[in-house]
Amino acid sequence: MAETALRAPPIRLKPNPSGFGAEITGLDLSRPLPPQTLAEVKRAFADHSVVWFPDQPLNHDQLEAFTLQFGAFGDDPYVKPLADRPHILEVRRESEETASVFGGAWHSDWSFQDQPPAATLLHAKIVPPSGGDTLYADGYRAYEALSPAMQRLLGGLRAVHSAGRPYGSGGFYASETVKRSMQILPSVEAEKTHAHPVVRTHPVSGRRALFVNLVYTLGLEGMTVAESAALLGFLFQHMTQDAFVYRHAWRTDMLTMWDNRCALHNATGGYDGHRRVMHRTTVAGETPV
Ligand code: SIN
Repeated sequence: MAETALRAPPIRLKPNPSGFGAEITGLDLSRPLPPQTLAEVKRAFADHSVVWFPDQPLNHDQLEAFTLQFGAFGDDPYVKPLADRPHILEVRRESEETASVFGGAWHSDWSFQDQPPAATLLHAKIVPPSGGDTLYADGYRAYEALSPAMQRLLGGLRAVHSAGRPYGSGGFYASETVKRSMQILPSVEAEKTHAHPVVRTHPVSGRRALFVNLVYTLGLEGMTVAESAALLGFLFQHMTQDAFVYRHAWRTDMLTMWDNRCALHNATGGYDGHRRVMHRTTVAGETPV
């Protein structure tokens, strides 16, 4: 035990000034992390919600093995995975592609599921010379900045989530007319709904975070359409204001991991004429409470 502790490489942590997002260096992710190091990485992830590891050239097996150190794979519907790799999605946009950027609106991954993924990992394979950043928004600070009266109101509400708008049989991707290099699999299944609390308590940090998003949240239970549109409109704007957002710039071989339970993300464009390729896995989560 003492020997393991001695051999465990210390993680080097460089948090953003806001505390939301942190860089981790000093590790080789291609091999299993010693238990103490893994515990430190998990602590950093719980503290900072988005963590990234530069300079980690990982093959498919290594990306899968690293992911599994955080839990079982999540269930990733509606996008065709890599051949023979059911748990790796390729987020790809070719240089000549004119289709919209995949993931290019504020969302939390698969929040329409009964148990949405706890974490998503994205590994940068080909990064354009400029553009293609990913934005992250801190759901904890967004909640904590609300007045006690608003926190009380939201604390009793549940929101309805569905994949229908993007992935339904009449949804955004099914209606696309331009070619996309990723293969999206629209389905009537996507119209199914799940309700989750608007404010969820993180199972590890114990902190409360707002848990609604522009892409998958359709409305609020028990409210009229007008009431729920007004309240959700306010929340979407509130959650994604600059003060809560971190803009993440990629480098080839960087692995980034974010916590879907307390952070939103939004992929940006700005790299037309260049290819961008990322490999993505998810870690299974729990029923939001
Ligand atoms: C996603 O939403 O998973 C895509 C993020 C990105 O490509 O930056």
